Amino acid sequence: MKRILIGLLAFAGVVVVAFGAFAWRPAIGKIAPPAPTSFAPDLVARGEVLAGAGYCSTCHTAKGGQPFAGGYPMKTSFGAIYSTNITPDPKTGIGSWSEAAFSRALREGVARNGAHLFPALPYDHFTKLSDADVSALYAYMMTRPAVVAEKKRNGIPFPLNIRALQAGWKLLFFKPGRFEPDKTKSPEWNRGAYLAEGISHCGACHTPRNGLGAEKRDKAFAGAAIDHWIAPPLTAANPSPAPWDQAELVAYLRTGVSRYHGVAAGPMAPVVHDGLVKLPDSDIQALAVYFNDRDGGAGRASALAPALQKADAADRLNVGPQSDPSARLYTAACASCHYNGPGQPNPLRPDLALNSAVNLDDPTNLIQVVLHGVGAKEGAPGVVMPAFNRFSDADVARLAAYLRATRTDKPAWPDLEKKVAAIRAEGK
Ligand code: HEC
Ligand code: HEC
Ligand code: HEC
Repeated sequence: MKRILIGLLAFAGVVVVAFGAFAWRPAIGKIAPPAPTSFAPDLVARGEVLAGAGYCSTCHTAKGGQPFAGGYPMKTSFGAIYSTNITPDPKTGIGSWSEAAFSRALREGVARNGAHLFPALPYDHFTKLSDADVSALYAYMMTRPAVVAEKKRNGIPFPLNIRALQAGWKLLFFKPGRFEPDKTKSPEWNRGAYLAEGISHCGACHTPRNGLGAEKRDKAFAGAAIDHWIAPPLTAANPSPAPWDQAELVAYLRTGVSRYHGVAAGPMAPVVHDGLVKLPDSDIQALAVYFNDRDGGAGRASALAPALQKADAADRLNVGPQSDPSARLYTAACASCHYNGPGQPNPLRPDLALNSAVNLDDPTNLIQVVLHGVGAKEGAPGVVMPAFNRFSDADVARLAAYLRATRTDKPAWPDLEKKVAAIRAEGK
């Protein structure tokens, strides 16, 4: 008995030591912060584009804080993780990091001191970055103004806060390696894939995750819940009745508005207006080529005309006097702005029959938009949809149920009133 116990303990010891050795990463020596003038201006300029495409400032800037100085909370189901200061301050930022240390952080999720980083930093996507792009990003970050800002303590509970355990997560879910082009596809498609899967990590929001927070690789872009919104599927499962095509994707990603599909609101707004805005038109085209292929919209092009006809018919329900109380509410509150002439959807007043918010399996996005409106910085820049936060939960639920019933053939959403209350409680 005693011998078995000793054997087991020894085995456990070996496992712990072996895991420790496996998880261990060396620190990379500190350097004196490189002089900003040591970087070529065109390298810095390329880095700026990439930093936009990777939304570095969206995650690394606290509300009202200095750009890139960190402190922005990322709420995960395990607790809050705070982004760090990535300005070149040598003490509190990354000023003493060599390019090798920076590259290892972005592509392997390991900090300069050897500690494993949480995948809140999307290193599982940045691992695809080319060496040249990492150099450009490094040049851009190292030429930003240095800001003194200490890191905030994470809210991750013990034992999940043990960084060495992240080595286990990586073993299970992380596939390191540069982007590999698909030779059967065009260079433009591959450029789109490189951006989407790498620096712009579209899947970080649009791909569902497993219980341990890793993206399900076999469900790429299948749609997912994120920050109390739904990032719709970017596959053939996209529920918009008007199929996405090249032009619609370009318009949406370039301007935040598209003719048939509405606007980029919620977490998609900064993607378009703070991030992709930095990319040249050719890159937006490339993203559209890639997603147009993935969602097979071209194969469903014939669905457009009937979808437009149905949308027109639905719009006409709200012209003239109404007897049904739900129709009356919709006509009074929404129809004045959301009515479009036959066959002429106006991109600045999204047609609700065509909008994914009304067609998704989950009413979250519709409720978000009604309760909180669409701000001037979201959707079409400078254009606002008012918030209907004074409406009762019952009235918002009634509007959602009415739109679902009159604008789609899809099953009614269950528990709408509860859902409205929960989203209202979350705040904006
Ligand atoms: C989705 C949010 C998000 C995005 C986008 C993001 N980061 Fe981060 N990043 C984080 C978080 C959170 C951490 C801290 C992780 C931790 O504590 O384990 C971090 C850590 C880092 C670190 C390690 C710093 C340190 O002190 O350990 C570097 C370097 C970094 N990010 C650079 C970048 C760059 C460059 C970009 C843009 C290309 C970027 N990040 C985009 C969230 C993000
Ligand atoms: C931070 C999370 C996040 C990231 C990153 C993100 N998206 Fe989104 N996306 C969303 C959300 C949330 C919506 C729903 C917005 C709405 O309904 O107004 C959305 C909507 C969309 C839509 C409209 C879908 C529809 O049917 O209405 C497209 C197209 C899209 N995203 C493409 C992309 C592409 C391409 C990328 C990468 C370049 C990307 N997204 C990155 C969260 C994200
Ligand atoms: C004063 C005009 C106005 C009224 C009233 C109005 N809307 Fe809007 N709505 C807009 C505009 C404008 C946009 C596009 C906003 C943008 O581009 O920033 C919009 C966008 C939307 C979207 C699309 C969001 C997306 O992600 O594509 C939905 C859904 C929506 N409205 C639903 C409603 C409902 C339901 C009502 C009634 C409760 C309503 N609206 C009332 C003007 C209005």
